[in-house]
Amino acid sequence: MNIDNIRSLFPILDETVYGKQLVYFDNAATTQKPTPVLDAIRDVYEHKNANIHRGVHHLSNVCTDLYEHARTVVARHINAYSDKEVVFTRNTTEAINLVANTLGNQIVMPGDEVIVSELEHHSNIVPWQLLCARKNATLKVVHVNDDGTLDMDSLKDLLSPKTKIVSIAHVSNVMGTVNDVKQICFLAHSVGAIAVIDGAQSIPHHAIDVQAIGCDFFAFSGHKVYGPLGSGALWGKYDNLSQMQPWMGGGEMIDKVSFSGTTFAEPPLRFEAGTPDYVAAIGLASAIEFVDSIGIEEIERHEARLLQHLICGLKSIGDIRFIGNAKEHSGAVSFLVGNAHPYDVGMILDKMSIAVRTGHHCAQPLMERMGIVGTVRASLAVYNTLEEVDLLLIAVEKAKMMLR
Ligand code: ALA
Repeated sequence: MNIDNIRSLFPILDETVYGKQLVYFDNAATTQKPTPVLDAIRDVYEHKNANIHRGVHHLSNVCTDLYEHARTVVARHINAYSDKEVVFTRNTTEAINLVANTLGNQIVMPGDEVIVSELEHHSNIVPWQLLCARKNATLKVVHVNDDGTLDMDSLKDLLSPKTKIVSIAHVSNVMGTVNDVKQICFLAHSVGAIAVIDGAQSIPHHAIDVQAIGCDFFAFSGHKVYGPLGSGALWGKYDNLSQMQPWMGGGEMIDKVSFSGTTFAEPPLRFEAGTPDYVAAIGLASAIEFVDSIGIEEIERHEARLLQHLICGLKSIGDIRFIGNAKEHSGAVSFLVGNAHPYDVGMILDKMSIAVRTGHHCAQPLMERMGIVGTVRASLAVYNTLEEVDLLLIAVEKAKMMLR
């Protein structure tokens, strides 16, 4: 993997911040976009744009083909059984809400239970809370250990015939903990529950094989894997999708509309009401092709080296508290510098042109569990370098001295 070539595909990396070259370590929030993705978007708007699935005219057919090709690219990338199992959504949040508002409404009854964990992003908590409130069901929460791993015994204790859905992140957006999703799905299925995996933070860093994971649903966002904002997908087993009632109604999701009764399209179109952001979906396919052109295993190896260097460097600075130090770890490192407030550290790093995220990272229950208000989070992407990690380490050391 030639890092200089890769970096040259990301024009934004040449930007300067306060006169110094940008060092971007906020990739778990959103990744930067390479020129093939930007070009694909521009190409559609400049040469191909027409609403999909609607026209008999040439451009509409061209765009429809590109959109459906994007579905094939996504399906192959995650090893779906078929293209029809990929529903395009705006992001992970919309994908999880889709499951909660369709299958969730259908299978969760009063007195039933839904299980999430303490390390979830709000987008994998709130849709289930809303579902439980609607259905008079109970949300159960898997405990997180001090090292940021899931307490699997706590999951086993919570599972029962009342459990209808287990929804867990593949990788923690705060700590980078990689959860044993195969085992989680196996356990969920052992009580007849549906297993939903929030893949927002795993798709940029790992090969995803939904068949090997054994989940029923897998949700992810395109913008975290070098794709455009507003692109994302829900993968679901076709058997499940075909039994799900629609969530949003509108154009394209129907078979026949009549005031005497409306029938619905087969999945995935049943869940894609209205004009979708087909340009975003086409951009997402281009992002996946970009990842595949490097090789996700190469990316994994490169990021593992960066992560190792970052963790070792932070340890050698001293007085750093890591929030989460699981053995299976990818993408993000969360830490506190002495007693300094994370915002203060983030502000100092920013002045040195280094972008990190600070705060609760949309995971307030995890902050409560860890007894903290927030963290400083550095998160990695394929274009980050060891030199950038060194710049971050120098900046953290300076921040530590300034905030003493
Ligand atoms: N989910 C994104 C993050 O963790 C926004 O930063």
